[in-house]
Amino acid sequence: MAPILIPKPSTAVPAAIFFSLFLTSLLAASDTVLSPEKLGIRRREKLSHLHFYFHDIVSGRDPTAVFVVPPPSNASRTLFGAVVMTDDPLTERPEIGSKLLGKAQGFYTGASQTEFGFLMVMNFAFVEGKYNGSYLSILGRNTVMSAVREMPVVGGGGLFRFARGYALAKTHAVNFSSGDAVVEYNVYVFHY
Ligand SMILES: *[C@@H]1O[C@H](CO)[C@@H](O)[C@H](O)[C@H]1NC(C)=O
Ligand SMILES: *[C@@H]1O[C@H](CO)[C@@H](O)[C@H](O)[C@H]1NC(C)=O
Ligand SMILES: *[C@@H]1O[C@H](CO)[C@@H](O)[C@H](O)[C@H]1NC(C)=O
Repeated sequence: MAPILIPKPSTAVPAAIFFSLFLTSLLAASDTVLSPEKLGIRRREKLSHLHFYFHDIVSGRDPTAVFVVPPPSNASRTLFGAVVMTDDPLTERPEIGSKLLGKAQGFYTGASQTEFGFLMVMNFAFVEGKYNGSYLSILGRNTVMSAVREMPVVGGGGLFRFARGYALAKTHAVNFSSGDAVVEYNVYVFHY
């Protein structure tokens, strides 16, 4: 049977109530209702589809993904605890020499002890076309051996203010001797 907790009357309670009322009134004072037009939002939200290839280059003289924290012990076969910082090119086609659309800037870290399961924390910073200077922020889970991985788009900047959506990642090619990988991304995002 679960114990029933009965709060004891205490002198701390009135103080807590006083502070919560005080904070509520402070917050209320700074909480102004804005019309979207004041922020330059005149149109309705739209849904965009972005498609590109992500190049995770860990080998060679100019890697774009580098270990900043190696796995803490070689007992981890899944890179649990490792942190890799990225400035990975995003290109129009699978070939690294195709048009550069942006960079995936951020890190991924081994978050699973039983499989290759990464926590992905990245900004897709675009450098081409109308999205030049805008970016999408990704915070998600990437089990790289799965055929398709889904990661939430949690926000963005520039034309992607108020963005929300999801990214689908599908491995296009992996070189198992160098560790380099090309990943196809389809991103679906609501924004203004
Ligand atoms: C890693 O493995 C090697 C060989 O199996 C062993 O000698 C070494 O102590 C291990 N290192 C750690 C940090 O567990
Ligand atoms: C993207 O924006 C930067 C900074 O405004 C500019 O220097 C660059 O030429 C732009 N690139 C393209 C492809 O328009
Ligand atoms: C895979 O990587 C190895 C080692 O870096 C390299 O010699 C080889 O050419 C690469 N294979 C392909 C298909 O790129």
